[in-house]
Amino acid sequence: MLHDKSIKLDQLTLGVCYYPEHWKEELWADDLKRMLEHGITVARVFEFAWTVVEKEEGVFDFALFDRFLDLAHRMKMQVIMCTPTATPPVWLTHKYPEALNATKEGDLYYHGHRRHYNYNSREYNRLSARIVTKLAERYGDHPAVIGWQIDNEINCEIAEFYSEADHAAFRDWLKKRFGTLDKLNEAIGAAFWNQTYTDWAQVSLEKKTLHGHGNPHLALLEKRFTSHSARAFVKMQADILHKHVKGRFVTTNGIFGHLDNHEMTQEGLDFLTYDSYPNFAYGQEAGINAGDTGSLKDRAWGLSLSRARSISPNFGVMEQQSGPGGWDYRMLMPMPKPGQMQLWTMQSVAHGADFISYFRWRTCWVGTEIYWHGLNDYSNRPNRRLEELKGISALFEAAGAAAGGRYEARVGILTDYLNEWDGERDLWHGPLDAQSRQAIFRAAQLSHTPVDLVYLRETASHQTTVEELAPYSALFYPHPTILTQRTAQVLKDYVAQGGKLVFGARTGYKDEYGRCPMVPMPGFAADICDVEVVEYTLARFDEPVLNIRMGDQLAPAPDAHDVLQPGSTARVLAQFDSGWYGGRPALTRKDYEGGGVAYYLGSGFSFEMADLLLKEMGVRSPYAQELTCPQEVEVAVRRKDGEAFLFLLNYTEQAQACDIHGDWRLLDGSSAKGSQSLPPFGVLVLRKEG
Ligand code: GAL
Repeated sequence: MLHDKSIKLDQLTLGVCYYPEHWKEELWADDLKRMLEHGITVARVFEFAWTVVEKEEGVFDFALFDRFLDLAHRMKMQVIMCTPTATPPVWLTHKYPEALNATKEGDLYYHGHRRHYNYNSREYNRLSARIVTKLAERYGDHPAVIGWQIDNEINCEIAEFYSEADHAAFRDWLKKRFGTLDKLNEAIGAAFWNQTYTDWAQVSLEKKTLHGHGNPHLALLEKRFTSHSARAFVKMQADILHKHVKGRFVTTNGIFGHLDNHEMTQEGLDFLTYDSYPNFAYGQEAGINAGDTGSLKDRAWGLSLSRARSISPNFGVMEQQSGPGGWDYRMLMPMPKPGQMQLWTMQSVAHGADFISYFRWRTCWVGTEIYWHGLNDYSNRPNRRLEELKGISALFEAAGAAAGGRYEARVGILTDYLNEWDGERDLWHGPLDAQSRQAIFRAAQLSHTPVDLVYLRETASHQTTVEELAPYSALFYPHPTILTQRTAQVLKDYVAQGGKLVFGARTGYKDEYGRCPMVPMPGFAADICDVEVVEYTLARFDEPVLNIRMGDQLAPAPDAHDVLQPGSTARVLAQFDSGWYGGRPALTRKDYEGGGVAYYLGSGFSFEMADLLLKEMGVRSPYAQELTCPQEVEVAVRRKDGEAFLFLLNYTEQAQACDIHGDWRLLDGSSAKGSQSLPPFGVLVLRKEG
């Protein structure tokens, strides 16, 4: 059964990440006082502070955090406590090096950084369980503590694990899954290049191989296993916390690779919190993976926020960017310009966040993150960002009732973990999918068409049902090279019930192990679309990019081409415009009784094609009656109990004007009808009954 894993707040709430162990104790009271004066009512603490309370194995001293929590309580500051397992104490890894993660070559990762432990070490699990239990017993019912964060950013920094404990656990996991070596050999196509295992002792996670890549099917299993290990580690902690901390929430923060975050949240957490750093768009790593959303810059972060929303419809942001970023050796980022901090905060809120906690109260004066600025600079003097925070706090007050409102989207972009993981290695798949997803998101953003990211799930705890998809009028499933029969059936039911669904090139030719069975492409999608792929090619290197012609419109057809042969119940909507398959079908549609339509696009999605398809499906610009806005402004609506909140977000350095036609009101209650101006990086929140 699927549980609603939303944060439950009836007021938008501000928090901040705080590190009492970094500062002289005399500063604490002043820090808390100023936080409260700026509208911050929650402080997150402790995620890297294990040694503060356990200086040597089994010797506990809680005095420092006792004092901090008591002070917080006296001053009416609420606290989110963390479990400290992201940074094991030096004494621990020195005594139990088996707790460390390792490279494929077997070299250990030592302290000096963070997240250098592995999930399968028996000793690390034992010692983690003990510190979590001790903390939960001590602070479980502390009046200042409102909730718990497990670890910090599971699978951040590194999402690959090759310690001895991981190799052994992988072997056991495969044994349970396959039972016999024959079945394992079959699943991983071991006949190819003579990789047949003849004894379980030979089986391991990938080791050093030529070109750094071993068997691709085993690599896919490896990612599933990493997800399983990470989830088990989180669940171990969640079970302890739930036992001891009645009435407090349990969460973790961030979304990272090789981890089924949906399953993790369903099985152990109350909701997910996300860490939002849109300033990446302006820094040293801007453009990395930005693809077609490159021109959206910080606005592209909405796609990541949509991922958080797909797990927890109302989520929290545990770390919201509040200053320039960067470590001393990478990720350099500039100072947010006036208004940008508020813009990024409200971007999170517009996308469904009800709790925003800034990273961090004060910029750290030591360590790798001396350039990852917080709200306060090293000097601790009043500054522009703190001034801006006062305005944000006032806006939270005025728009606070938006909390609990659900982001409204009638269009979904489908995805699933198996395809995401497969695409990480498969170059015919991953880059195609990434660029299409970004193009669709950009077309949706610029046309003011809110979209959700929708995860199709086929796990032990949940299999996506057609009822979950039914609220969407249209779904894009860009390039599911892996398409199971069950998922195909749910999608077929969706179109049979009136939904509109688009697949892109290279759909459906792989099974769940990433093998390519002997069936015509696009596998199980053939039946849904009544189409066959009769020729295909990689088009990524074509110069210029070939076009698809749809009536009198031309749209670029990036990356990969499938030449289509529709069956008797499908028809051709568009053709390749030139090249050796010029004139042959590139887009087909099959109509279902009840209004449903299944489209097959024989290429990657360009921005232009995504835009045409939004129009073709009649789902583009759903708020056109309500307002006219320049494309530079993001439009989002959150709705609850007969009330709607409209968020207008200006991502540019120029003022923008929107024309409001509907009965929207400003937050002071006056009518918003007519022209409303948004200053550079400005935000406008309007509300309306109904
Ligand atoms: C996050 C992390 C924080 C801090 C921040 C800035 O990923 O959770 O602890 O490191 O990034 O680097």
